[in-house]
Amino acid sequence: MKQTYILAIESSCDETSVAIIRNGCDEVATVVLTQMDIHATFGGVVPEVASRHHIENITIVIEECLVKANMTMDEIDAIAVTYGPGLIGSLLIGVQAAKTLAYIYQKPLVPVHHIAGHIYANNLVKPLQFPLIALVVSGGHTDLIYMKDDYSFKHIGGTLDDAVGECYDKAARVMGLPYPGGPRVDQLAHTGEDTYGLPLPKDDESYDFSFSGLKSAVLNLSHNERQRGNEINVANLACSFQNRVIEILTKKTMRAIKDYQVEHLIVAGGVAANKGLRERLERLCQQQQVDLSIPPIQYCTDNAAMIGAAGYYAYQLGHRADMTLNAKANEPLS
Ligand code: KG4
Ligand code: ZN
Repeated sequence: MKQTYILAIESSCDETSVAIIRNGCDEVATVVLTQMDIHATFGGVVPEVASRHHIENITIVIEECLVKANMTMDEIDAIAVTYGPGLIGSLLIGVQAAKTLAYIYQKPLVPVHHIAGHIYANNLVKPLQFPLIALVVSGGHTDLIYMKDDYSFKHIGGTLDDAVGECYDKAARVMGLPYPGGPRVDQLAHTGEDTYGLPLPKDDESYDFSFSGLKSAVLNLSHNERQRGNEINVANLACSFQNRVIEILTKKTMRAIKDYQVEHLIVAGGVAANKGLRERLERLCQQQQVDLSIPPIQYCTDNAAMIGAAGYYAYQLGHRADMTLNAKANEPLS
């Protein structure tokens, strides 16, 4: 069998990443340069700062990845790149770098949707089995997707306002925790008790989510308690908040699995690192004999390996872009 090597570029938010992936499933090399510490100073990602750092780092990261893989551009079959959705200034750097490489080395250019990448991160662990439901939970996304086959995406639900990771980060700020708040809230939740009466957001028959109400409830609760001179028990608030998030995510996901009659669930995105979510899904999937796949943490957060995995299938299906490829800040997965 001919080996197919994809060089992939991801720069949609605050990670500059390049990877080389063989046949959509074997990671030859990945380099991820995160700007998390830089943005932590500002309490969140500053788009202008992010794109400036991508410009400074992109060529270094490409070279480092080729060195790590011990490969040259001649051995690469195609260039895959995240073209959207994401921060426009950040995306543009990756897209421009990919176009330049494709032009100079005369390689096919394969556009990859960021969410397709998150989903295919699972393919680096074990082959995707169809049909499946994918729950994508990250700082920018909360989506439920039905996949009948490779690279066929049916968006069945998603957030109507804040993404779940964004809600974690904002709630964490109210709790006085540093950015990024998700992992801190997760950690604290395990030490606290569910004592605060927070609402269960958008508990209805749809597959859509809404997290802005829950975020406001945390904000209002802590203002009111402070005004009354009561001290907030941060561990209990983290636990109450996390329980609501997990309950609504798992409730709608398990219903989608039943309604679409699938036996495979994959979870992807930064919030898939959440210990509470993993534990609850493991338990529910075991009870209902659903095969669950959650990638290890390094494939959950943004990385180019996942773009290379998705890019391989897009390449096989003939997806190509030319030099007019542009970055798209908002782009539905279809
Ligand atoms: O996928 P990702 O790296 O970037 C986006 O594409 O958005 O996700 C980052 C998000 C952040 O909001 C971060 O707080 C959240 O994932 N996150 C977590 C955990 N680890 C990261 N949220 C909850 N629990 C965690 N353990
Ligand atoms: Zn992401």
